Amino acid sequence: MPHLLVLHGPNLNRLGSREPDRYGHQTLDQINAHLAQICEEAGVGFDVLQSNHEGVLIERIHTAADQGVGFIVINPAAYTHTSIGLRDALLAAALPFLEVHLSNVHAREAFRQHSYLSDIAEGVISGLGAEGYEFAVRAAIRRMGGQA
Ligand code: DQA
Repeated sequence: MPHLLVLHGPNLNRLGSREPDRYGHQTLDQINAHLAQICEEAGVGFDVLQSNHEGVLIERIHTAADQGVGFIVINPAAYTHTSIGLRDALLAAALPFLEVHLSNVHAREAFRQHSYLSDIAEGVISGLGAEGYEFAVRAAIRRMGGQA
């Protein structure tokens, strides 16, 4: 069975209460439950991890490569703009991935407009709120040969 991994970076565990005007009212659990349902309907395995620690995310990417995960959907959050380590882990894993941001990072501070991941991603979705995750997961499923 093809397998999808969704990764959420720092502070995304606070969704629902964190700057709701910017990031929406849904909690991370609610978002993840919806993504899990989409994968279940498509017959695709689903794994998810949120971490506030860069090394934990990096090690999960290493494991994903060893497990033969087919696709990664990642919102690297603040690590988007800082982490060469995350970039190198994704390059080492050589797994296709989609980068998702709830907010439109290009309409925000200058430091958010650079991503260490975008140029090596299959695609980037930014500014569509939680729907962005849904679109990315459906796109990943289709790219793995499934229907969604
Ligand atoms: C974010 C945008 C980042 O700049 C920020 O650090 C986040 C969330 C987003 O989903 O819009 O934590 O990735």
